[in-house]
Formats: sequence, structure tokens, C-alpha cells
Amino acid sequence: MGMNTMKALPDAYRALVIGGSGAIGAAFVQALRDDPRCALCVALHRRSSPLAIDFARPDSIAETAAALTDQGPFQLIINAAGLLHGEGFMPEKRLADLDPAQMLATFSANTVGPAMLLRHFTPLLDGRQRSLMVMLSAKVGSIGDNRLGGWYSYRASKAALNMLVKTAAIELRRSKPGALILALHPGTVSSALSAPFRGAEIGRPAALAVTQMLAALESAEDSGAFLSYDGSTLPW
Ligand SMILES: NC(=O)c1ccc[n+]([C@@H]2O[C@H](COP(=O)([O-])OP(=O)(O)OC[C@H]3O[C@@H](n4cnc5c(N)ncnc54)[C@H](OP(=O)(O)O)[C@@H]3O)[C@@H](O)[C@H]2O)c1
Repeated sequence: MGMNTMKALPDAYRALVIGGSGAIGAAFVQALRDDPRCALCVALHRRSSPLAIDFARPDSIAETAAALTDQGPFQLIINAAGLLHGEGFMPEKRLADLDPAQMLATFSANTVGPAMLLRHFTPLLDGRQRSLMVMLSAKVGSIGDNRLGGWYSYRASKAALNMLVKTAAIELRRSKPGALILALHPGTVSSALSAPFRGAEIGRPAALAVTQMLAALESAEDSGAFLSYDGSTLPW
């Protein structure tokens, strides 16, 4: 497995990973700290200290962004937080399973929290050089690609996230011409999130997924795209 060095980003680029406690988030932090071109990689999550990000506490997003302004601008910001199953719920199989509490928890983690990241962290993105703000999405959030059905809340929350990414990309096109706002599908990865769905058997290690995703990000050209880990564009 090759080490990633992000040559398309400016030398001594600064990175920030939200959801750095997750399987994929932690692997991003490791890979970026191993990249000699990366000058700083800040890892944030619900229990990081002194700065934390908890989507259930929107103030934590604004406060953490404000506290990090002096360490910016950042050339790479990755959100690797997300939720598929939670306390007392699993993805819905049928309409009869739909439950408002589950829907709100899923949308809070996958849509509203990330939207607040777009609000408070895009000002920290380098506007003059190449910079990337990456939201981990999911192929099952593709409306065009939905063949199997089910997983209502997760699918809808990621489809809504994709729309937020696209819309933010349009807004930032003029004010931050070097910035790319991207939705990125990691592929199936072995993690706590995928574990109940045979993730350990059918998924690959997070480190390998991250190597592939960083390579895809290196060659990304279009802001507002929905990309897969292999660099291909996914249907909305
Ligand atoms: N694994 C896959 O096969 C797969 C496939 C497609 C897409 N994805 C996407 O990839 C991303 C990372 O998934 P993963 O597999 O690495 O999952 P994971 O190991 O379960 O990590 C999930 C991360 O999200 C954080 N999180 C959850 N709810 C949060 C909230 N309300 N506020 C703040 N942080 C919250 C967790 O923080 P704590 O540590 O504090 O719980 C953790 O850092 C997710 O967006 C997921 O939808 C994964």
C-alpha cells in the first residue's frame, strides 16, 4: 500500500479531519500525518480536546471553527463523521419501519451537522490556492443508482448532503475560485458503521480506502462533484 503525498496541494498544506475518531477518519489523520508535504493535521471529533465537534451541539461547530481561524487557512478539510445505525435503531427495511426519532438523528449527523460544517469551515478554506472541502457521502445516497430500496433515512440524508455540497460549490465558485467542495463515496470499508452489514467480510481496511480516496482527491478538478473512491463520478 503506497504512501500518499498530495503534490497537487501547496507544499506545507494544512489539513483538518472532522470525525477523526471513526475508522475512516482516523485513517485519514494517519495518512496525512505521514505525508511530508502536510504541515499540520488537526483531528476533531466528539471527544477531542481542547476543541471538539459534536453535531448534537451546533455551538461546538461555530466555536471550534472560530478557535482554529489563527491556524488556517486550510487546504484540506475532510468530514468523515456519519451515522447509519444508532442507539435502538437499524436502517429501515420498509416504510412501516420509519420513525421520526431515527430520521432526525440520522439527518442531524449526516445532513444538518455537515451543513453547519460547510457554513463555519468554508471561511477557513484557502481561497487563493488549491483547496478541498470533502464530505464523505455514500453511493446509496444516489437517487439515480437506487436499485434495492430500503435504508430510507440514510439514503435520504446523504442525498440531501449531496445537494448541500453542490449548492455550496456554486456559491463559493466566485469567492474562492481555488476551492473544490466535494461529496466522496469511500466504498465499503470495514468499520463500526458497516459491521452489522458484513462490513468486516465485504469491506476493505480503512487505510486502503483512504489511499484510494486521497489519490482520487489529487486528480479532482470539478467543484460540486459526487466522486467515488476510484475517481469516477457517481450519478446524483
Ligand atoms: N464504512 C463504510 O462502508 C461506508 C460506506 C459508505 C459511506 N461511509 C461514510 O463514511 C463516513 C465514515 O464512516 P466510518 O465507516 O468510518 O464509520 P465509523 O467508524 O462508525 O465512524 C463514524 C464517525 O462519525 C462520528 N459521528 C457519528 N455521529 C456523530 C455526531 N452526531 N456528531 C459528531 N460526530 C459523529 C463518530 O464519532 P464517535 O467516535 O464520537 O462516535 C465517528 O468519528 C460516514 O459518513 C459514512 O456514512 C462509510
